Amino acid sequence: MDVRERPIGVFDSGFGGLTVMRSLIDLMPNESLVYIGDTGRYPYGNKPADEVRSYAIELAESLVHDHGAKMIVVACNTAASVALDALSKSLTVPVIGVIEPGARALARVTHNGKVGVIGTVGTIASRAYDVAIEATGADVVLTSAACPGFVEFVERDQTDGDEVTLLAKRLLSPVKDAGVDALLLGCTHYPYLAPVIQRVMGDGVVLVSSANETAFAVRELLESGGLASSRDGVAERRFFSSGDVDWFATLGRRLLGPELGEVSAWHSGAAS
Ligand code: DGL
Repeated sequence: MDVRERPIGVFDSGFGGLTVMRSLIDLMPNESLVYIGDTGRYPYGNKPADEVRSYAIELAESLVHDHGAKMIVVACNTAASVALDALSKSLTVPVIGVIEPGARALARVTHNGKVGVIGTVGTIASRAYDVAIEATGADVVLTSAACPGFVEFVERDQTDGDEVTLLAKRLLSPVKDAGVDALLLGCTHYPYLAPVIQRVMGDGVVLVSSANETAFAVRELLESGGLASSRDGVAERRFFSSGDVDWFATLGRRLLGPELGEVSAWHSGAAS
């Protein structure tokens, strides 16, 4: 098959990467996509870096070898923060994560130079955002906060209400107290909690999601590498989950939209 017509492979620990899928579908409807949500092993955010790295490598290799992916999008901050270098070295196809595109967008939108990032314990501990913000060269002060528990609320389809609001008030206090005017949702699950996060942070704070930025970066990479699809019309999208496929189809459709059709099982250690 012409390499340009092969799919883009996308993965996350669960539903979060669907925020990136939404942007990819909207920006490049003619690109085929294959998504794996590793819901059988989520959450990644509180797991040791080595374990997350080995999951990321396994998922990316499956996307390349079993599905012929022409490019890998690591639609998970936790995985990208600990595995992007290893993936870039070991895979023969281009790899892109969500961290650098998100950091660039954050540095661009601030007016007061005080920016925040929230993410999983693993992402914040990796300091990947400190490095990425520094690399932008922007004169900004970054305040980071880990938000353990947020991902679980999304995976349970509890994206609003008293319980999650109470947790948000507690976990967001460091970035709120720092007076940030731009807050990066440094976990691909968090855009689904945006209404709660916005209420807690207040209207003066711009919430930045890395999904759109990542999709633009993917398009640029495809075009510069001569990998962009030349087909007209809408391409095929396939979805896999390592956990409960029915739940993935039900909640996934609600979160992503009607593009999420049938969901197949993905098994660790086996060709899917
Ligand atoms: N969506 C993943 C991220 O961007 C969530 C990680 C998790 O499973 O805890 O970090």
